[in-house]
Amino acid sequence: MAAKLNTSLHNALCLLNPFNTPFSIKPFSSRNSFRFSKKLNSSQYSSGRRALYCTSSHENDAETFVLTTPLYYVNAPPHMGSAYTTIAADSIARFQRLLGKKVIFITGTDEHGEKIATSAAANGRNPGDHCDLISQSYRTLWKELDIAYDKFIRTTDPKHEAIVKEFYARVFANGDIYRADYEGLYCVNCEEYKDEKELLENNCCPVHQMPCVARKEDNYFFALSKYQKPLEEILSQNPRFVQPSYRLNEVQSWIKSGLRDFSISRALVDWGIPVPDDDKQTIYVWFDALLGYISALTDDNEQQNLETAVSLGWPASLHLIGKDILRFHAVYWPAMLMSAGLTLPKMVFGHGFLTKDGMKMGKSLGNTLEPFELVQKFGPDAVRYFFLREVEFGNDGDYSEDRFISIVNAHLANTIGNLLNRTLGLLKKNCESTLVVDSTSAAEGIPLKDTVEKLVEKAQTNYENLSLSSACEAVLEIGNAGNLYMDQRAPWLLFKQGGVSAEAAAKDLVIILEVMRIIAIALSPIAPCLSLRIYSQLGFSLDQFNSITWNDTKWGGLKGGQVMAQASPVFARIELNPEKNEEEKKVKESKKTGKAKVKVELQPKTVAEA
Ligand code: MSP
Repeated sequence: MAAKLNTSLHNALCLLNPFNTPFSIKPFSSRNSFRFSKKLNSSQYSSGRRALYCTSSHENDAETFVLTTPLYYVNAPPHMGSAYTTIAADSIARFQRLLGKKVIFITGTDEHGEKIATSAAANGRNPGDHCDLISQSYRTLWKELDIAYDKFIRTTDPKHEAIVKEFYARVFANGDIYRADYEGLYCVNCEEYKDEKELLENNCCPVHQMPCVARKEDNYFFALSKYQKPLEEILSQNPRFVQPSYRLNEVQSWIKSGLRDFSISRALVDWGIPVPDDDKQTIYVWFDALLGYISALTDDNEQQNLETAVSLGWPASLHLIGKDILRFHAVYWPAMLMSAGLTLPKMVFGHGFLTKDGMKMGKSLGNTLEPFELVQKFGPDAVRYFFLREVEFGNDGDYSEDRFISIVNAHLANTIGNLLNRTLGLLKKNCESTLVVDSTSAAEGIPLKDTVEKLVEKAQTNYENLSLSSACEAVLEIGNAGNLYMDQRAPWLLFKQGGVSAEAAAKDLVIILEVMRIIAIALSPIAPCLSLRIYSQLGFSLDQFNSITWNDTKWGGLKGGQVMAQASPVFARIELNPEKNEEEKKVKESKKTGKAKVKVELQPKTVAEA
């Protein structure tokens, strides 16, 4: 068995190792201290196994970018915390599409287990109806937030069940599943047995602040402990596997402290996928839901098996998750994949929490922010922009409405929206809304062009590094540079002077509108509707907007003779007590002093972690 395991580990390492240098892996022995109480027919499950072994030819080609959000529990409708991961994922997916990659953006809902069955009962529904309803509310919210996912998987989909069973059988055939009694403290909200060491007073779960319950069960176990060494090797050889880098230490110390086998079935829970050959037990939600990342890859009309699913896009390029579920993704999941002989995902990024009064916002704590209300009140662009700009991706961040309004007014309405509106107004008044020259010739010898090019590069690097707040900041800096140029050149005065001055003013407007065009593209992963509105006002069609690529951020897209649309505000200011609007004050202040760059620091908060 050690040899078999080493083959899959070797494959995993090869695929994680960009330079394909040979790893030296010492054989290790299995620690199966329990006997299986039931013997499955392993030949039945091992067929086709070799075909699934991952080799480099099997790897997702570099032009395909597969990214996933967690599959959300359907115990309650989505809150802003669940929306946060999805907004970030959508922005990353949109950026990768702009780079010309084929993107498979996977999201979905996690519908089995005790927590879901209990919430269905509490709502007087049968679990199936309950899941349909809540899963639909996720889809509705994604629509409202302009989330352009490619695949939506529900763990109650029959195709998912087929893949989970096949996966279970492969792990079983590899000798990694055994049966044993387990006694411990269980947090139903985490759907996890907890170590007493990590609990608060009265055995309370630190994430959900509710007491864990004592449980004793006869379960099937996954031999996680066998994978301790391989996991250590993988992480030391591929430190970028866990991001941000400061989360790697956490994962390494979990592993170092000793990995314990974990229970992968439940005897007391009916609402789940039956364990193959033992319908008295259901498969543990995590051993079920993680497989959604693979089962999502097939279409309903395709063959529903691991081989087909894997061939359609596995391994994932990026699992985007909250830090509370890092252990499942950076420890359990890679070990499960190794056991089944499948390639590991390329990266797991654990972001921080949206908090309220320092506590993780969540359904279980009941301290959530309503995303539907927020979108209806402020629109999808404001919501997307605020959370991605305000919270350094990876850190925690607290929400306040005052801050929300300050930021979106200052950045989207003033710096970006107003600049466009003023420029189009002047163009209409003085040039019949028509560009007098190409933007390339207008910008000859003008330093602003170089400034913008550097900021576009900065935005690109930040998007690539998943530093979404810094990407927003780079785009805002382009807006600031445009505003500064407008104020310094004062084209409205030059038009009044007439002659050569008026000609120069007409060129200035072309330059500023070119800046706006570049902003529209660079901002489109974050605020797609706003970007479309800007693009349309510049005289482009929806088709033209839909076919833009990151290359179009190069200076020179606007041509002489192009006619601009009628100016109308692209982002309506949110009205509020001006006293509270500290961010707007900063913008006004920076304009007076000529220091146009506005930098907003987020105070990271420390939050109790799972
Ligand atoms: N069902 C599991 C995931 C299975 S993935 C195969 C789950 N679901 S969840 O609905 O509880 O959480 C889904 C995601 O939402 C997690 O990444 C979690 O971190 C994130 N968030 C939930 N509340 C959050 C905040 N308050 N802030 C930011 N993200 C948070 O776990």
